[in-house]
Amino acid sequence: MVGDIAPSGEATVREIERAGGSAIFVPTDVTRPDEVHALVGAAHERYGRLDAAVNAAGVEGPSAVTTELPTADWTRVIAVNLTGTWLCLREEIPAMVASGGGAIVNLASVGGVAGYAGSSAYAASKHGVVGLTRSAALEYAAQGVRINALCPGAVDTPMLDRTTGGDAERRRRLVASKPIGRLATAEEVAGIAVWLCGDTAAYIVGHALVVDGGMLAGRPLAAPEVRSPSASSRRPRRSSSR
Ligand SMILES: NC(=O)c1ccc[n+]([C@@H]2O[C@H](COP(=O)([O-])OP(=O)(O)OC[C@H]3O[C@@H](n4cnc5c(N)ncnc54)[C@H](O)[C@@H]3O)[C@@H](O)[C@H]2O)c1
Repeated sequence: MVGDIAPSGEATVREIERAGGSAIFVPTDVTRPDEVHALVGAAHERYGRLDAAVNAAGVEGPSAVTTELPTADWTRVIAVNLTGTWLCLREEIPAMVASGGGAIVNLASVGGVAGYAGSSAYAASKHGVVGLTRSAALEYAAQGVRINALCPGAVDTPMLDRTTGGDAERRRRLVASKPIGRLATAEEVAGIAVWLCGDTAAYIVGHALVVDGGMLAGRPLAAPEVRSPSASSRRPRRSSSR
C-alpha cells in the first residue's frame, strides 16, 4: 500500500510493479483521521492482514528562529510529522495485533535526538515522534508489534533540495559537515527500514536508530588545537618564587 497526499504515489506503485511486486496507491492526507482509516482498511481488504508499515510522511516547514516562526507553520509541521504519525499508529497497531503481530518504523530525524537551530518546529515534531515510538513500543511489544524510529541525517531527496534551496554551495557545505563525506541515498534509508521490519531485527524494540554518516558521533579531529603537539607548552607556567 502506498499512501501519500501527492499524486506521485502512483509513480511509486509503478516502480514497485517494475521490480516484480504489487501495490496500490490510496491518496491519503495523514492529518485526516478518516483518510488514514481508509488507507489501513484498504490494506486489510486487499491483503487480509498488515505485517509492516513505514510512516514517512513529513514536511520540513520554513527556516526561522523560534520567536519568528508563524503559528500556521508550527501547527502544520506538528500536524503532519507528529499527529500524522500518531494517527497512522492508531490504525496500524490494532490491525497488526489482530493478525498476530507486525513491525512499524516511524521516520524521525537526527532532529529527533538533537536540537536543530532554525527548525525548532521540525525538531520538536521529530523529538515527539521518538517519544511516541518508545511509548507505543512499550505498550505493544508483548502483543508482537515492534515499533522503532529511524533518525536519518541528510538524505538526498526533494526535501533536502527544498532545504538547500537548490544552492550548490549550501549543498557542498552540508556534505562537508558529514564525517562520511556524502549524503545518504533514499534507497539506503529505505533498506534500513525494510531490515527493521524483518525477522533479523526481531529483538529491536523502541529504538531510535541514528543513520547519519557519523554526524552525531562527536566532533571531527580537524581542529588545529586538538592536533597541536605543542599544546602542553601553552599551559600557564608556574611562577618560581624564590
Ligand atoms: N531528506 C532528509 O534529509 C531527511 C532527514 C531526516 C528525516 N527525514 C524524514 O524522512 C521522511 C521522508 O522525507 P523525504 O526526505 O523523503 O521528504 P520528501 O519531501 O521528499 O517526501 C515527503 C513525502 O511526504 C508526503 N507528505 C507530506 N505531507 C503529507 C501529508 N499530510 N499526508 C501524506 N503525505 C504527506 C509528501 O507528498 C512526500 O511524498 C520525512 O518524515 C522526513 O522528515 C528526511
